[in-house]
Amino acid sequence: MDDLDQLKTDLLARVDDADLAALEDLRVAALGKSGTITEMVKGIGQLPPDERRDAGQQLNAVKNAVADAIDAKKQTLEAAALDASLSEDRIDVTLPARPDGAGLIHPISQTIDEMVAIFCEMGFTVAEGPHIETDFNNFTALNIPPEHPARQDHDTFYLPPDEDGERKVLRTHTSPVQIRTMLSEKPPIRIVVPGRTFRADHDATHSPMFHQIEALVIDEAIHMGHLKGCLIEFCRAFFDVDDLPVRFRPSYFPFTEPSAEVDIGCSREGGGLTIGAGADWLEILGCGMVNPHVLENCGIDSTKYQGFAFGLGIERAAMLKYGVPDLRTFYESDIRWLKHYGFAPLDVPNVAAGLVGGRGR
Ligand code: DAH
Repeated sequence: MDDLDQLKTDLLARVDDADLAALEDLRVAALGKSGTITEMVKGIGQLPPDERRDAGQQLNAVKNAVADAIDAKKQTLEAAALDASLSEDRIDVTLPARPDGAGLIHPISQTIDEMVAIFCEMGFTVAEGPHIETDFNNFTALNIPPEHPARQDHDTFYLPPDEDGERKVLRTHTSPVQIRTMLSEKPPIRIVVPGRTFRADHDATHSPMFHQIEALVIDEAIHMGHLKGCLIEFCRAFFDVDDLPVRFRPSYFPFTEPSAEVDIGCSREGGGLTIGAGADWLEILGCGMVNPHVLENCGIDSTKYQGFAFGLGIERAAMLKYGVPDLRTFYESDIRWLKHYGFAPLDVPNVAAGLVGGRGR
């Protein structure tokens, strides 16, 4: 038994001197699977039966004393380590946050946000529609019946026929949302519709998926003057040129009558392109007074209501405003390109003005 006392004294002394790593070694050496004490416990079976009980109790007492000492020492050491790291790793709360890794707004999203912000300030609200459309909404209701030549201008993606034999399309423009809105809401209507559109076309200036923004205003006394005022204001605000020349040129769209295309002034002197007063014009959008057939297709009395509409390509506007030379780069997801052309999130204009408050006009 003296041996046992000696072992206990030794072990407790070593626990006292140990650091965290040595403590674990000590635990394994004494109490582990083949540790000194564990082996001794295993040896009890070899003792004469009348000695086993006492020996077992004494051994257990030593085992518990050593285990308790190790636990206590471990807690002390861990608390000390925590205190040390708390006093060393002090956080300087006055340091500015590191901007690393913040995402950037894609120029397409930025352009949509800017346009929506301008229109919302004018009292428009945002409407959206699905990418998969009926032929009726995408064409027929917009006064483009099945044999109409304008259908050939849209390189349409058709879906396989559904159970009823109906062939849906990937919408070729945002104009079907005009139809959806007029079918579900009564005038006055004043919406802008940003969104994706699809045409089977792919080259340096065309992508099979692109974006448009559409606008529709319907009320009782809407005339061409409203259309012109709205678009001149929009072009000047978007390109941030107060006296930007804006020209309306007669054109043709099945869904408007009369129709016009809008050009903005620019200069191509020196091989570059500058938006603003200059000798040249640049076409940027299509517009017109909503064709009475379209109103009637949506159950709106065309003797009482008139309206105007317009639509423009987001990519083209973004390329012009931000000097992006190649359309395809918008979709390549090249992080270097995004870092160059992207926008910090806080640059996003306040679109909330038009988005909150729902469809109130
Ligand atoms: N939907 C036309 C297109 O994709 C653009 C357009 C022109 C929309 C005139 C309109 C409009 O609402 O009035 O080419």
